[in-house]
Amino acid sequence: MNYDPNRVIIFDTTLRDGEQSPGHSMTTSEKLDVACALESLRVDVIEAGFACSSPGDFEAIDTIARTVREPAVCSLARCVESDIKAAAEALRHAKNKRIHVFIATSPIHREFKLRASKEEVITRAISGVRYARKFTDNVEFSAEDAFRTEPDFLVEVVTRTIEAGATTINLPDTVGYATPDEYAAMIRDVRSRVPNIKRAIISTHCHNDLGLAVANSLAGVQAGARQVECTINGIGERAGNAALEEIVMALRTRRDVYGPVSSIDTTKLVQTSRTVAGVTGSHVQRNKAIVGRNAFAHESGIHQHGMLANPETYEIMRPEDVGFAASDLVLGKHSGRAALRERTRKLGYDIDEGTLDRAFAEFKTFADSRKAVDDDDVGRIVARHCAPDQKMDGAII
Ligand code: KIV
Ligand code: ZN
Repeated sequence: MNYDPNRVIIFDTTLRDGEQSPGHSMTTSEKLDVACALESLRVDVIEAGFACSSPGDFEAIDTIARTVREPAVCSLARCVESDIKAAAEALRHAKNKRIHVFIATSPIHREFKLRASKEEVITRAISGVRYARKFTDNVEFSAEDAFRTEPDFLVEVVTRTIEAGATTINLPDTVGYATPDEYAAMIRDVRSRVPNIKRAIISTHCHNDLGLAVANSLAGVQAGARQVECTINGIGERAGNAALEEIVMALRTRRDVYGPVSSIDTTKLVQTSRTVAGVTGSHVQRNKAIVGRNAFAHESGIHQHGMLANPETYEIMRPEDVGFAASDLVLGKHSGRAALRERTRKLGYDIDEGTLDRAFAEFKTFADSRKAVDDDDVGRIVARHCAPDQKMDGAII
């Protein structure tokens, strides 16, 4: 398969794996809003749903397939003809389409879920891929629970599904059990032992049960994977999937370590995160990496002093690069004189050191009893201590 080794394909599954998690279901029109946001973010593939799972999912995939032009639109399907037919039907108006077929390969899933032998699993996987190829030459095969699959069997499944026509091979850590070294070792093993592996792109799909989804996905990239499956805000089954915004910014910020980058317009990350949080009603934690409210906020005096002198003292990315307007120097009980001086200037006061001392003493007492101090509070405090000529035109109070 021809691909650019310097680029990682971003496969977004917010609308499928993300939506599958409790409390995250979306209407067709909400899904369309998210799909449009993902298109302007420039993801490569949008997994829009699981066509046969419900009429609503089918309708959403169909609507997205008719609307989105740049990214490939994808539907999930089991290795079952009726599933694959539904996926193909829902995708028929897509400019670029992908059918994503999967079957579980691990011993525990074979025994307790599928009640199928290794041979049956391989037969079903091959016929699923072959059937999907009748509708498109862009077929992804996932070996569900790949990480807990016997390595020799995984090599066989991957070899046979590539032979059958799969162009992307996804190796999920379905239950979020892997560590980064182990996950990378699985990818390296498949790359070195599957004879036809060059005909497919290897993909990561990591769940976050141990908080390792992003680290495992990045380890997969270092081991040669060139597609990453991820979701906005990391939503997904149980503890979620690898967070798209974290993967993309890690690839970009630490290119020296990882090498390949994505095509994502990173300046749209915050906006897309807010769109997904808005439609799912699931708020983003304040300290969430990249898109959380505190990701570029500083309250402590020492940090604020450093930030005012040179933002690189405490920031490794520029807020504008992910879509925040600027860093946020939050005033609170940990803040110092430098930040108060800066804020009073912004609010329209030109105060001398003595006035600043008095205002700062009152500010500290006031801030001790508050979570944060806003501009109105600062204005009132400074106004009590400054002379009329220290107040410039346009001062807020
Ligand atoms: O976690 C998983 O294994 C999946 C597959 C269906 C790709 O979501
Ligand atoms: Zn998953």
